[in-house]
Amino acid sequence: MPRTDILRAVETSAGSMGLAEKGFLWAFSWLDTRFRIQDYWGMSKDAYHHMHRQMPLTHAEKYKLRIIWYWYPLYCLGGISFLAFVILVISGTVLGLYYVPGGEGTPSPAYLSMEFIMVDLPFGYIMRSIHHWTTHFMVAAVFLHMCRVYFTGAYRNPRELNWLIGVALMFFTIFFGYSGYLLPWDSLAFGAATIGINMASSTPLVGSWMAKALFAGTTLSGQTVTRMYFLHVFILPVLVTGLILAHLFIVWVQGIAEPH
Ligand code: HEM
Repeated sequence: MPRTDILRAVETSAGSMGLAEKGFLWAFSWLDTRFRIQDYWGMSKDAYHHMHRQMPLTHAEKYKLRIIWYWYPLYCLGGISFLAFVILVISGTVLGLYYVPGGEGTPSPAYLSMEFIMVDLPFGYIMRSIHHWTTHFMVAAVFLHMCRVYFTGAYRNPRELNWLIGVALMFFTIFFGYSGYLLPWDSLAFGAATIGINMASSTPLVGSWMAKALFAGTTLSGQTVTRMYFLHVFILPVLVTGLILAHLFIVWVQGIAEPH
């Protein structure tokens, strides 16, 4: 309502309007002619009704996609991998307080310390189980995350670099699991180490160097478990943490790929 109309209403209502009402309307019309209060109020009401006219659209509706709302939970798999990594760091730190990385003798200090964690240490059994099962969980999540990225085509320009970082992460995640598997230094670990050292030794050209770097020699020894321990608790955590941070930073900069 224009200011003149408001003022006329104030004057003609004479006795029927109290002083407070008259004062309010006069002040309102004075402000309205200067700050367009009614206009802006109307505009924001229009905007509100425009936005809330219907239920919010789903992503697939908004972009007129013929696919795949049922893919969306799979977009959590990278986050799930990250969560698993955090749980592994925490539970691994607790295990590291009691584990002894020595492979000499039978039984070895490594084996005895695992036995201590499993049998004597309060909550040791559950801590090791959490570490063990979260490893399986992480390997599965990383693999499925990679499948999601592949099947939604999210590896394409401009995300090639993040795919390559992901390939390194997949490799290091598996190697993380393998190096941990050897640490109890029981017969299972010894068997797995035998396969591993043979694989490393048969690398073309650099086989013996590879065996020495990863297994602390061209044959298995008490040193092997100490070397695996160092890889497991220092080299790999530093590499994987750095790569995950770079990976997530790139996701943050580029945003998630739109499905199409
Ligand atoms: C430690 C392992 C990994 C972690 C913690 C991780 C974490 C993440 C997270 C949180 C995202 C955001 C989107 C989502 O969650 O789906 C993402 C996206 C992405 N990841 Fe990974 N990832 C890992 C391994 C991998 C692997 C193995 C690959 C492929 C070889 C990969 C390639 C990508 C690509 C290309 C994107 C961008 C996808 C898009 O924009 O939709 N990542 N990652």
